[in-house]
Formats: sequence, structure tokens, C-alpha cells
Amino acid sequence: QLGLETKKLGKMIHYQESVESTQKIAHQLANEGVQEGTLVVAEEQVSGKGRLMRSWHSPKFSGIWMSLILRPKIPLHEAPQLTLLAAVAVVQAIEDITDLQPQIKWPNDILINRKKVTGILTEMQAESDRIHSVIIGIGMNINQQIEDFPEDLQEKASSLFIESGETVSRSKVIQRVLVRLENLYDLYLQEGFMPIKGLWESYAISLGQVIKASTVNDTIVGKALGITDAGVLLLEDKKGTVHSIYSADIEIQ
Ligand code: BTN
Repeated sequence: QLGLETKKLGKMIHYQESVESTQKIAHQLANEGVQEGTLVVAEEQVSGKGRLMRSWHSPKFSGIWMSLILRPKIPLHEAPQLTLLAAVAVVQAIEDITDLQPQIKWPNDILINRKKVTGILTEMQAESDRIHSVIIGIGMNINQQIEDFPEDLQEKASSLFIESGETVSRSKVIQRVLVRLENLYDLYLQEGFMPIKGLWESYAISLGQVIKASTVNDTIVGKALGITDAGVLLLEDKKGTVHSIYSADIEIQ
């Protein structure tokens, strides 16, 4: 029982003990035409998906693995804005429940003390420039201990339990994430991306710093100037050339 306080988000919940990936189920449901705000939650994902074709470690009972279906009437090129919106919602939800101070690493990794506690994967279904649905996948490390992570992740990943020293109720976190998401989504539909952009920037970790962005074809080192109104990262290299980064892996130098 989640005890939801939202009007639209999470009113329909598909809960399953073990799935391949909640993203996959959400895509199927979106195709079947389910209502906006439908949520897929699982206790465990056996092949969780991360950004840039990576896998996402999603062990049983210790984290939140969920995918939310939205159907905004916005042009396709504005969809990345929703990724940034989701990151802000997660930060606010963590702040509601703990004394921790999460930060966002572009586009949407949530870090606490520089370690990643949440990843967000946004995928879309669209026909020409019309969005059919946006699937926001959120993976939150909640009650894992450090030895629960695979060895190669132990240096850079963490959980709310590790950072706060307290067990955190997963249903409470889901509840707060949905409330925050709903408020921000309403704001976004009424006033556009500007207020969300301001919030995102206030939590961003890498702005003004020199970062390394690895894209599929290229590596660019430069100063992170900020994000555009579409949510694209702007990097200025040594020569003063400004690059627009749509999708990349970011390392803070
Ligand atoms: C990242 O690479 O940082 C994004 C990770 C996103 C993981 C979540 S968990 C719920 C949803 N289902 C998936 O298979 N992936 C996303």
C-alpha cells in the first residue's frame, strides 16, 4: 500500500515481483493506450537498463525500480526537459525524507557526497514530431549496504541508507517522488520549462567546472556553461568553441 497523495500520477500501478525491466513493461502498456500517470514498479529487475546501453543493477527489495508513463503534448525536441524535471523531483523527494543534500550531475544522475544514488532513463515513443508517450525510468538505491554493490561500482555508487545511516521506507520515497513529480509536471504544463530549469541549475553539480564529455564518437573537455532552454548541455573548450552536448557520459575533472 503506497498511500498516494497524487491526483494523476500512480493512480494505476502495475506491481510485479520480478521483471526483466520495468521500462519494457511500460513501453508495452503505453502501446496498449493506458492512461497518463500509469506506474510500473518491481521488486527486482533481472536485466535493468541504464543509459548509453549499460545495464542497471537492480537487486531484490533494496531499491526502487519504477517506470512512469506520461503523455505530454509537446514537440519531440522538448522531451529531454522531462528528464531534467524528473531529476529535480527525485532531489526534492530525498530532501523531504532525509537530511541529505543531493546534487544533480548532467543530465540526471543524482549524487550524494559525489556518489550516485539514482539514475534516470527517459525513453520516448513518437510518430514524426508527435509524442505518443514518454517513459521515465527511475532507479533509486535505497537500503543497500556497500557490499551489496558489484565491486566495480563500490567506489562510485551509494544508497540512501549508506549516506544517512538509517533504513528508509521505499513506499514513502515512491510517494514523495510522485507528489514532487506531479507538482513539477503541472508547473511545466502551465508555465513551461523556465521554472524547472532554474530549479535544476540550483542543484547542478558541474556547472562552471571543467568536465570531460564522452560521446559515441568524441571526447570533449571544456567548461560547462549551462543548459539551453531545451535541456542541452553547453561546453566551452580551450579554444572558446561552444559545443552542444545532447547525450554523453560526464566526468568532472
Ligand atoms: C542510468 O544509466 O543512470 C539510468 C538508470 C535507470 C534505471 C531504471 S530502474 C527502472 C527503469 N527500468 C530499467 O530497466 N531502467 C530504469
